[in-house]
Amino acid sequence: MTKIKIAIAGIGNCASSLIQGIEYYKAEDKEPIGLMHRDIGEYRPKDIKVVAAFDIDARKVGKDVAEAIFAPPNCTATFCPDVPPTGVKVKMGRVLDGVSDHMKNYGENYTFVVSREPEATKADIVKELKDSGAEMLLNYLPVGSEKAVRFYAECALEAGVALINNMPVFIASNPEWAKRFEEKNIPIIGDDIKAQLGATITHRVLADLFEKRGVKLERTYQLNTGGNTDFLNMLNMNRLVSKRESKTEAVQSVLSHRLADENIHIGPSDYVAWQKDNKVCFLRMEGKLFGNVPMNLELRLSVEDSPNSAGVVIDAIRCCKLALDRGIGGVLYSPASYFMKHPAIQYPDDEAYRRTEEFIAGTRER
Ligand SMILES: NC(=O)c1ccc[n+]([C@@H]2O[C@H](COP(=O)([O-])OP(=O)(O)OC[C@H]3O[C@@H](n4cnc5c(N)ncnc54)[C@H](O)[C@@H]3O)[C@@H](O)[C@H]2O)c1
Repeated sequence: MTKIKIAIAGIGNCASSLIQGIEYYKAEDKEPIGLMHRDIGEYRPKDIKVVAAFDIDARKVGKDVAEAIFAPPNCTATFCPDVPPTGVKVKMGRVLDGVSDHMKNYGENYTFVVSREPEATKADIVKELKDSGAEMLLNYLPVGSEKAVRFYAECALEAGVALINNMPVFIASNPEWAKRFEEKNIPIIGDDIKAQLGATITHRVLADLFEKRGVKLERTYQLNTGGNTDFLNMLNMNRLVSKRESKTEAVQSVLSHRLADENIHIGPSDYVAWQKDNKVCFLRMEGKLFGNVPMNLELRLSVEDSPNSAGVVIDAIRCCKLALDRGIGGVLYSPASYFMKHPAIQYPDDEAYRRTEEFIAGTRER
């Protein structure tokens, strides 16, 4: 029996990893390597089912979700090639500002190709969400899709489905939007997924280590390169403002004294096509330890970007379902602080972890 019904906007690399993962973890005899939680409440990854999907790419719209996740320009690792047909076809969404102009200058294997299907209206999306029985909508749109994300968030509100906002258009961390979800008692987790073992969590943990060991952090950078459409899209600096804010604040928020803007540089740094979904992070931290003596740390982290996000979303979905089961709406502060880079309330990761465990156990409301 299907226990958790999800809808997805944006069937890109992250959605591909998530859907592959749901299938991959169906094998109960396998050691569940790579999961933060095998069980959340009564739910396992296999209990999640995609019941509706929206995209705008000609190679995805009209296809079964199981086929669309492997269509170009998706380029993430295939760790579960045999995803059986889902019976759910990807529906045409609404483009708005989802596709940056500069993306037209790249070959079809690397960029979005907008479908000629008529675009969906708000009424179409709301109807699809309702008819499919979706309980929550996952937003995986490209960075900078301010109008499109608000459009899908409106649809979720109108259809009465929960929202998991995996990217940095600020919805859950925007008090006005948060209030609207609270008023309708609809759960929301956001914004901008904090990958399982990615640059942000690593940078935060190291910044916290400097604090706890009495080392004064004076300057830091985090430079990231990758070759997927997420990195290609982010070559447009105008779309990057919220991504930079989300990633920078995630680190600033664990420091007892904020670094001056000129001493902290964090963001996507370049697009390297052959890297595909492999993201490489170059991180440097400079500080002063005992006796005001200088030290520095350099780290290089190499990860497949999309499974790294799916490893967290698979838990966010199940926490969202617990809230639905318990009749709790509004921002789920604890799961959001653990799972997202830009939550409404930032807690240090140890505390965010503890609060999330309490939420799962039912001893903390949100
Ligand atoms: N990989 C990670 O670890 C990670 C972490 C944090 C945030 N994110 C964010 O998650 C989002 C998704 O990442 P991804 O790698 O899957 O990106 P992607 O480029 O692979 O996928 C985006 C998808 O959205 C579709 N799309 C574009 N405009 C649309 C619209 N208006 N309506 C419906 N669909 C539309 C595209 O066709 C594409 O299939 C990005 O914003 C990314 O920054 C990813």
